[in-house]
Amino acid sequence: MIMTGPSPAPLPVPQESATPRIGDAAPDFSARTTRGPLTLSDLRGQWVLLFSHPADFTPVCTSEFIALAKANDQFVSLNCRLVGLSIDSLPSHLAWLEAIHTSFGVRVPFPVVEDPSMAIARAYGMLDASAESSATIRGVYAIDPEGIIRAMTWYPASVGRSVSELLRLIQALQQVDRDGVLTPEGWLPGDDIVVPAELTEDAVTATGLAWFLQYARCTPA
Ligand code: BEZ
Repeated sequence: MIMTGPSPAPLPVPQESATPRIGDAAPDFSARTTRGPLTLSDLRGQWVLLFSHPADFTPVCTSEFIALAKANDQFVSLNCRLVGLSIDSLPSHLAWLEAIHTSFGVRVPFPVVEDPSMAIARAYGMLDASAESSATIRGVYAIDPEGIIRAMTWYPASVGRSVSELLRLIQALQQVDRDGVLTPEGWLPGDDIVVPAELTEDAVTATGLAWFLQYARCTPA
């Protein structure tokens, strides 16, 4: 487990670690955040969207934080907690969130993790090895209630992420888990889902030419 901040005594952190993949346990960490100390594994039982941003006080990141703050209640209603992270210090995070409130009237209600040692960013592969600066990429890690990474997205510093797509991602993962189905392109709650094809000759013959893409009604949550 990664520990950051002044206390308790930090554990040694591997300098090189493999980037986690979908299906891996999310690397655990304890760190200081804008909402007090946080240990990731304490959020078990809830979905977590852990997202990194390149730097505080930058325009694209600010636009993302405003949109995420406004959508926070929607994530909470999905039993999903937002957790932000960058390599900036806690005082920097606090000053930035205060400036967002003062300038845009938006309070950021989710914790933002400080990672000045870059230990967490390294463990998640949020640092681009070829990048000229130590800023993290725009990484998103969707972590399920058992602490397993279920989806990841990486965007460059220049392109802001879509909050509606992040909401849709959590809804789709939850639908998949609930009913053992698959969600097609652009799926939204209430849309038809797709069912895994039954791979027997009889089933394929009975289903017809489009046996490899069969839609079915979505059962409401
Ligand atoms: C931004 O959030 O606007 C940004 C952050 C890092 C590099 C470039 C842009």
